[in-house]
Amino acid sequence: MIPIQFPSPEIFTRVREAFRAAGYTSEAVDEQMHHEPRLMSAYVHGRLVTGFDAAQTLTRLFFGGAARIEELRTLLNPQTLDDLQSLGLLEPAEDNTLRPTVRLRPMLGLYVIADLHQRYEERNADFVYPPDGPNTHEYITYLPTRYEGHFLEACGGTGVAALIAASRGATHASSFDISPRCSQFAAFSAQLSGLDNFTASTGDAFAPAAGQTYDTIAMHPPYVPVLGDQFVFSDGGQDGEAITRKHIEAIPHHLNPGGRLYCRCMATDRRGEPFEARLRKWLGPRHTEFDIVLHTTRHIDPIGYLRERRTTEQTRQSITAWIDMVQSLAIEQYVLCAFILQRHATPREPFTLRRRSGDHTRPHHLAWLMNWQTLCATGEAANIILNSPLHPTPSSLTTSHKPEEGEWAQHQQTITVEAPYPITREVDDLAAYLIPKLDGRTGLQLLHDLQINANPTAFAAYLAELAALGFLRVYN
Ligand SMILES: C[S@@+](CC[C@H](N)C(=O)[O-])C[C@H]1O[C@@H](n2cnc3c(N)ncnc32)[C@H](O)[C@@H]1O
Repeated sequence: MIPIQFPSPEIFTRVREAFRAAGYTSEAVDEQMHHEPRLMSAYVHGRLVTGFDAAQTLTRLFFGGAARIEELRTLLNPQTLDDLQSLGLLEPAEDNTLRPTVRLRPMLGLYVIADLHQRYEERNADFVYPPDGPNTHEYITYLPTRYEGHFLEACGGTGVAALIAASRGATHASSFDISPRCSQFAAFSAQLSGLDNFTASTGDAFAPAAGQTYDTIAMHPPYVPVLGDQFVFSDGGQDGEAITRKHIEAIPHHLNPGGRLYCRCMATDRRGEPFEARLRKWLGPRHTEFDIVLHTTRHIDPIGYLRERRTTEQTRQSITAWIDMVQSLAIEQYVLCAFILQRHATPREPFTLRRRSGDHTRPHHLAWLMNWQTLCATGEAANIILNSPLHPTPSSLTTSHKPEEGEWAQHQQTITVEAPYPITREVDDLAAYLIPKLDGRTGLQLLHDLQINANPTAFAAYLAELAALGFLRVYN
C-alpha cells in the first residue's frame, strides 16, 4: 500500500512553506538531534507528542509519534492540517489523534520521506530504507558536494543522493529503483522539496534509462549475503554482490566519458581474485577505459559473518549450506568498501588502486586519491609538483640493520604514515633524505637548492608517487 497522494502542486508548495514558517527545517532538526540523539527512536511507536512548539511537534510526529488533532490545530493553521492529510502524510488514529503514514526527514535542505521505523525482521520486502541511518550517511559522504550535467542514483530507494544532486547543480537528477513504492516516495520527496529537475523511475537496474547516459552515477545497492531472498532493500544474493555486479556490467553503456560512478557496498575478496579484479572483469572488454580506486573500511571473516546474521534462523542445515557456499565461491573475506569508477575522457592507460582505511581516513580521501592518481596518469601532476609548495606530513622513518662483516649494515628503511591511509613502504635513500627537507619549497626549488642531479620531469613523477602514498602534501 502506498499511502501518499499527489494532489495539485500548489498543495506541495503550501506544505513546504508552512514547514519552513514553522521552523521545521533540516537545520532545526539536526540541531534537535544533536542535543537529543535518541529523538529518532523515542517516538517510533506512536508515543503521544504533546507540549511542544510547532517545529518540535512536527519532528517528533514524523519520526513516528502521534498528536492530538486539537493540539495540532493550535500549532498549525487549519489549511496546513488539511493539506497534510490530502498529501496522505497524516491519518486519523485513536483518541482524536493524527499519526504519520511515512517517516519525513528534513535533511540537507530537503524533505525526504521513507517508511516508518520497523524492526528489521518485521519490514515488508519493499520497505523504503531511511535516508539518515549510518550506512546511507556514510554513502552520502563519499559523493561530490557540487554537480554538473546528468546525475543518476541507481538503487535509489528514497532517492536521497539524487535529491541532493538535483539541489546542488545537476542539470537533471534521476533515481531508479526496482520497487514502485520507492519511486513514488522519491517523486513525492522531490515535489515536497520543490525540485523540478528530478525524475524517479521503476525498473531493474538501468532498465528505465532507455539509452540515456549519465555524467555521475551513485549507487548504494543491497549487499547483504543471503542464501534465500527476503528483503529487496538489503539482500544481495549468496555473495552479496548480485545487484552490484548487474549494475557494474552495464556501466560501460551508461557512464559518459569523463564521468564517475560512486558506490558503497559489501563485496568479497576471493582466492586469487580480490574484489577490484572482479570489478574489472565485470566491466568486460571495455574495462581499459576505466580507472578504479577502492578503499575498504571493514574486513569480515565469511564464516564469522554467520554470527552477524541475527535475522535469519540458523539451523545446522543452513550453517552447512553457508559454509559450502563460502568454500565453493572461494570467499576469503567480505569487505565493506567504497569505490569510484572513472571513465577516461581521452584514451590512456587505466589504473587500479586499493587502500585500507585507518583511524585517520575520511570518506573524502577516496575522491582525493582518484583525483591525484588521475593527475599522475595524465602527466599533469609533474607540473603541479614542480611549481607548488611541498610540505611534509606526519610520518616516521624506521631503519633496520643486519650484521655484515662484523658491523651492522643498513638492511631496510621504511616510511610510515597514518593519513590519509595507514601505509608503510620501503623507501630509497633519496626519499629518506628529501622528506624532512620539505618546507614549502616547490619541486623545482628543491631540485636546485639540494643540487639533485635528475631530470625535472622524472623527479616530479617520483615525488608525485610519494604524494599518492601520503608521504608529502602538495598545495596546489
Ligand atoms: C540499501 S537500499 C539503498 C537506498 C538509498 N540509495 C540509500 O542509500 O538509502 C537499496 C535499494 O535498491 C533497490 N533494489 C534492489 N534490487 C534492485 C534492482 N535489481 N534494481 C534496482 N533497484 C534495486 C531496493 O529496492 C532498495 O531501495
